[in-house]
Amino acid sequence: MLAGKRILLIIGGGIAAYKSLELIRRLQDQGAEVVPVLTRAGEEFVTPLSVSALAGSAVHRDLFDLTAEAEMGHIQLSRSADLIVVAPATADLMAKMAAGLAGDLASTLLLATDTPVLLAPAMNVRMWQHAATQRNIAMLAADGVRFVGPEEGDMACGEHGPGRLSEVPDIVEAVLRFFRAGPLQGRRILVTSGPTHEPIDPVRYIANRSSGAQGTAIAGALAALGAEVVFVTGPADVPPPSGVEVIAVQTAQQMLEAVEAALPVDAGIFAAAVADWRVASASDRKLKKSRDGMPVLEFAENPDILKTVAGMAQGRPALVVGFAAETDDVVAHATAKRLRKGCDWIVANDVSPETGIMGGTENAVVLISETGADVWPRMGKSEVAARLAERVAQALGAGG
Ligand SMILES: Cc1cc2nc3c(=O)[nH]c(=O)nc-3n(C[C@H](O)[C@H](O)[C@H](O)COP(=O)(O)O)c2cc1C
Repeated sequence: MLAGKRILLIIGGGIAAYKSLELIRRLQDQGAEVVPVLTRAGEEFVTPLSVSALAGSAVHRDLFDLTAEAEMGHIQLSRSADLIVVAPATADLMAKMAAGLAGDLASTLLLATDTPVLLAPAMNVRMWQHAATQRNIAMLAADGVRFVGPEEGDMACGEHGPGRLSEVPDIVEAVLRFFRAGPLQGRRILVTSGPTHEPIDPVRYIANRSSGAQGTAIAGALAALGAEVVFVTGPADVPPPSGVEVIAVQTAQQMLEAVEAALPVDAGIFAAAVADWRVASASDRKLKKSRDGMPVLEFAENPDILKTVAGMAQGRPALVVGFAAETDDVVAHATAKRLRKGCDWIVANDVSPETGIMGGTENAVVLISETGADVWPRMGKSEVAARLAERVAQALGAGG
């Protein structure tokens, strides 16, 4: 998600500076290049050696550093980044920024740039609540500076209240949000994916051959267009995409609960291959071979997640998309399914074994909507995902 992005990370002199080490790693996990800057006070909390070893590059510390200035001047350093993150942003650093002071490297970089800035403040609750700090924050927000946190909680100083540095994943999410500047920015979209596992006993279950590849690609494509994606997935063969909120479930009933908890959303894409039935009374002990012969499994119908959401009287997503995996008469069956379920679109595909679609890398789909059937040529699942994401953006009136 952050491949090719350069982030200038300024580490201020606060007790939470140690969390910046983890932040460097997590930003790198997303593909970002992290260029670290450590303030003089920051050095009291984390060593330049740790920072530069983790970042894999020299840490910038001194405004009047001849070598650094010869290699990359401070003006160039501040402008070469796609985003400047300050974590922790101390009361002192924010006061300098608000006043336009430039007495050290960090504040000079912040003044000499038009690169967007994201601040993650961290300080004692009284410092945070002080009129001067609140005034500075209001000024910075009016200048277009972005914020993540602070959070409320117990502090290192023993007090409780607002002022804690946001958790590292939340800072990473704020960075991802900043870069998600596509047509779906500001839209929240739910995607279900993968198979469900319906237990027979603690070691056996009923499943299906869905790999989760198509749902995963769709979630990734929607996130790439800027959507906030809630990804509810059964036990899939492929890892979830980055930059989405992942909710892992096993059974159809758990999936329905996760879906209902994720609402409201602007659109729901129901790509999961949900088992139609579950074993009515799954055993909580492993079933044994016995002289009485084989066990008889009785089935109960699972909740119909697509129909439940599509039929909601209140809070129905503006766009509800179902999937149909068919083995014959694809268009006729899928057209009937769209009406039966009450959804807006059905993405239908032929999953006959000879197509190699289920578990494969390609898909051949027909998009069924109110206006008819749109047959797409066979293409990679990621291309299907990108095309569908564009359609979703158009349908939500979000450009694309
Ligand atoms: C142990 C200790 C912890 C501190 N923690 C914080 C803090 O969490 N937030 C903050 O704004 N200042 C904190 N300070 C005060 C800053 O270190 C001080 O204001 C410093 O000048 C900030 O430097 P900077 O602008 O380079 O970040 C702390 C000071 C000490 C001695």
